[in-house]
Amino acid sequence: MGCPFKSLGNMNRRSFLKGFGGVAVAAGAGYGARYAMDSVSGSGGSVIIPFLGTHQAGITTDPQNQTYFATFDLIASRRDDIVKLMKAWTQAASRMTEGKTAQPLQQDLSKPAGDNGDALGLSPAKLTLTFGFGPGIFIKDGKDRYNLAKQRPEALVDLPKFNGDQLVESKSGGDISVQACADDPQVAFHAVRELTRLATDIAQIRWVQTGFASKPASGETPRNLQGFKDGTQNPKAQEFDKFVWVGSEGPSWMQGGSYMVVRKIRIALEHWESVGVNFQEQTIGRYKDSGAPLGKKNEFDVLDLDAVDKDGNFIIPESAHVRLGAAAANDGVQILRRGYSYNDGINFIAERWPPWRQGLEYDAGLLFMCYQRDPRTGFIKIFENMAKLDALNQFVTHTGSGLFACPRGVGKGEYIGQGLFEAA
Ligand code: HEM
Repeated sequence: MGCPFKSLGNMNRRSFLKGFGGVAVAAGAGYGARYAMDSVSGSGGSVIIPFLGTHQAGITTDPQNQTYFATFDLIASRRDDIVKLMKAWTQAASRMTEGKTAQPLQQDLSKPAGDNGDALGLSPAKLTLTFGFGPGIFIKDGKDRYNLAKQRPEALVDLPKFNGDQLVESKSGGDISVQACADDPQVAFHAVRELTRLATDIAQIRWVQTGFASKPASGETPRNLQGFKDGTQNPKAQEFDKFVWVGSEGPSWMQGGSYMVVRKIRIALEHWESVGVNFQEQTIGRYKDSGAPLGKKNEFDVLDLDAVDKDGNFIIPESAHVRLGAAAANDGVQILRRGYSYNDGINFIAERWPPWRQGLEYDAGLLFMCYQRDPRTGFIKIFENMAKLDALNQFVTHTGSGLFACPRGVGKGEYIGQGLFEAA
């Protein structure tokens, strides 16, 4: 019997040459297919979302079905090493989002392959990789490790402790964030694994979270694990400059970038499912079936926060989630939500939860991710109130958290965050 890797090796060589010659390999041609520019096999589709651009992809991009979110702690002591990593990540991200391997495949079979090959043959699946810098890259434990403290944007604050937070340190924070989204979970996971491998000795994974958001074939807004349409009310494209992208108020490397808040939110699904639908609707402030605001007919009808019933009570209750999140209740501010449901099985740690929550089965909920121009007037402003007053709080617990400055997009010949590393 021959070496099990022999055929892979031969394929690699062939596709290596073809890939660089720009010659298309037909879909289904085996391991080499992913390596070709126009590979189209796999479940996620052949659409490529370009990595390079004015803004990073994966922020206002129409959400893909899957995410693999990871944060990293930097362990290198020199800034040059981080720059080296950003250059390697830029190259790898550009390649992987085109459906290629993270690095050209190594032709010497006595050496590691250069890319483990677990996504060979799969299509680009709309992969996006969105990078962010956490407070720890600027200053950590009082130390300015990379002489970057002066560059820390004012808006990149330390998130305050919110009412009800039960954050787990090992599921929070990180010096760098990578949000991989794709229509194929294997493509997203492969991308993060390859970035992690390229980071050896420079950065190590701190926490990861997978998520999913399946879209109904009808094109309707996806439903979250509570069975409600989630993602109805978000800023429109013409409002992105106002609410999502950092403008001239930020350092130049952040202009065109955005701040990302991530929260891992566990939902007590058994508790939720045991209450009446009316109660659920009062909690959210929308109808479960249609997604319309209470008192209205259609999903995209505007919330009427002033409407009252015959007894003078608000139709959308004061403690309803959407009332507390609405722009009208928050000085007009909006955030761009890009959440995914998560399911971590039934890994239940009884002692962490108060007695009335014990006996829950699923460790599942929402990987809440949102982007905004300034977290102080965005997530922090909205959530400070929500954390105290939201009726939804009886069903949810925030266990993970992070805030990251996602720099502007990467131009041709540039690397991720170049403006930051060259500013100091
Ligand atoms: C497990 C936790 C959460 C669940 C299940 C959830 C669910 C929902 C649902 C069903 C809607 C209505 C549909 C829509 O407009 O998308 C909504 C709206 C909204 N949520 Fe959440 N959400 C959660 C956490 C949060 C958090 C932490 C924030 C933080 C700020 C937030 C902010 C908002 C905002 C701003 C809206 C739009 C309100 C409007 O203008 O109509 N949500 N959420």
